[in-house]
Amino acid sequence: MRIIRVKDYQQMSRAAANIISAQVILEPKSVLGLATGSSPIGAYQQLIEWYKKGDVDFSQVTTVNLDEYVGLTPDHDQSYHYFMHRNFFDSVNIDPQRINIPDGCAPDMAAECLRYDGVLRGLGVDLQLLGLGNNGHIGFNEPGPVFSKGTHIVTLTDSTREANKRFFASLEDVPKTAVSMGTFDIMQAKRVLMVASGKAKAEAVKAAFFGPITPQMPASILQFHRDFTLVADEDALSLL
Ligand code: F6R
Repeated sequence: MRIIRVKDYQQMSRAAANIISAQVILEPKSVLGLATGSSPIGAYQQLIEWYKKGDVDFSQVTTVNLDEYVGLTPDHDQSYHYFMHRNFFDSVNIDPQRINIPDGCAPDMAAECLRYDGVLRGLGVDLQLLGLGNNGHIGFNEPGPVFSKGTHIVTLTDSTREANKRFFASLEDVPKTAVSMGTFDIMQAKRVLMVASGKAKAEAVKAAFFGPITPQMPASILQFHRDFTLVADEDALSLL
């Protein structure tokens, strides 16, 4: 485990974008595992800037996203499909055929989970980008009695719905379920890069990376990953 300490969100975003662009420059056909939420937005903005300057080319990259809300159509402004297009895909030269996001509106969600796991197995993720939930979740793998394995349907915890309600008109509008890559899926990535910023993440950073490995703190499993990098700012590291 490698921890890169930075001053603030802006430095975190630049450091993460540097790692992602180095991955793409060294291996233009990289499979990138991508995340939504507020943590990676700055990194996406930086990558867009470098793309526009001609410093990085995404034309051969394939992407797989971590998760999606169940029941939100791709054009819903809070769906993760919409988020990814608005914050990244629409501004770079990623081939739309190479974008993979779980379908939260599939008629048979169990079949969709199997299909998505097949996609992940077939591709193999080179670099997985993650945010960290305030309760230690990764993707939408919430604290529980066991670590999840493959793509599955998740009942979101009150803490996660509460944290995400800032994007919706009210708490009632936040979906109660999501489809997420499993913890085992995430651990299969060759490299994992997590970004964490702000005091709200400090408890989870301390518990996940300086406490016991337990499914009650899903991110703690990353202590076992052979190539895991945490880029965190001073506030997120403030309890260490
Ligand atoms: C998003 C995701 C979540 C977020 C986490 C942190 O695709 O899988 O695990 O990374 O909830 O969210 P933010 O970055 O908004 O604090």
